[in-house]
Amino acid sequence: MRESYALIDLNNLKQNYFNIRKKVKPAKILAVVKADAYGHGAVEVSKFLSELNPKPEYYGVALFDEAIQLRNSGIKEPILVFDVINSEKLSIAQEYSLDITISRNIDYEVLKKFCSKNKAYLNAHIKINTGMNRLGIRWDENLNEISKFYKIERVKINGIYTHFATSDIPKDKFAKTQLERFNKIIDKLKSLNIDLGIIHSANSGAILNMPESFFDMVRPGISLYGYKPDLNSDDSIYLKPVMSIISNVANLISIKKGESVSYGRRFTSKTDTQIISVPFGYADGYPRALTNKSKAIIKNKFYNQVGTVTMDRIMFDIGNDKISVGDKVILLGKNKNLKFDAWDWSKILNTIPYEITCNISKRVPRIYKF
Ligand SMILES: Cc1ncc(COP(=O)(O)O)c(C=O)c1O
Repeated sequence: MRESYALIDLNNLKQNYFNIRKKVKPAKILAVVKADAYGHGAVEVSKFLSELNPKPEYYGVALFDEAIQLRNSGIKEPILVFDVINSEKLSIAQEYSLDITISRNIDYEVLKKFCSKNKAYLNAHIKINTGMNRLGIRWDENLNEISKFYKIERVKINGIYTHFATSDIPKDKFAKTQLERFNKIIDKLKSLNIDLGIIHSANSGAILNMPESFFDMVRPGISLYGYKPDLNSDDSIYLKPVMSIISNVANLISIKKGESVSYGRRFTSKTDTQIISVPFGYADGYPRALTNKSKAIIKNKFYNQVGTVTMDRIMFDIGNDKISVGDKVILLGKNKNLKFDAWDWSKILNTIPYEITCNISKRVPRIYKF
């Protein structure tokens, strides 16, 4: 067993989930568990959430393979797959009872052909592109181009949704424009007496910043895992990070003033000091760009990371402190009043917590605690 692991705090996940639920009530929840639940373990996270009362009404994944993994692990709730479709993926949707996303005009022919040829029944949601310009049928498309999907035999449209580009920024004008466009298309479809099913649009940013976007269901991802999507996002929901990265001291050596540490000699000590080596590196998801910029918490004190981050190991300068081989090292997380979380890494790396937790690699065991 490795000394380094990702500790997944299911109690924090539960609290985040219920705090989100409270804010969006009576909207349903689609828990976004794509990318292995942002690195937290999709099967374990979904199974855990499914035991709660009330449990999420839906799960959302990016890929058909991710949905198969959930079904094979016993998840029975509806699963919406955000991916584009083709006939092979439609067979999978049928076999595994998945809700597909209609996100392109060309999906009409594919769907029609598949359902009539295979006498297949499929569940779907229609995705409207209101300005993200990634996937979805354009909001200003001829109404018939959208309404015709509701007439395909054997296709049940369970919902309609859109996705925001800037909802993480409070009072953002473009997010408002996207919402207006979405509302317009919904009104038009309703005027044709079409039953739209579940209407949904809000990701974590909109859950925090745009209550007017909740509709019938919301789709939290990063907020479930304890982070705001942007540091400026509204604080109306109390969130606790779910993942910590824990390791330990594998080696401790003394070096003299003027001696260097690690590849490329990017750190030279200005004093006689002690250096510890910790078994976690860029192959585990500790970015090399953190070199000489990061920190760890040991016995409730911060220590600077020094020397180039290597594939399997990183070093820290512990000065003259009394630290021993085997002592616990918190690379990501908190201890009492000290914290160094995915936002702290993100500020150094000019990224967002999504990328940090997703990139903790598969060779790092996930340990689940409640
Ligand atoms: C369609 C869709 N809905 C919801 C989410 C969740 O977003 P967030 O993690 O910002 O809550 C995502 C993730 O990017 C998504 O692709």
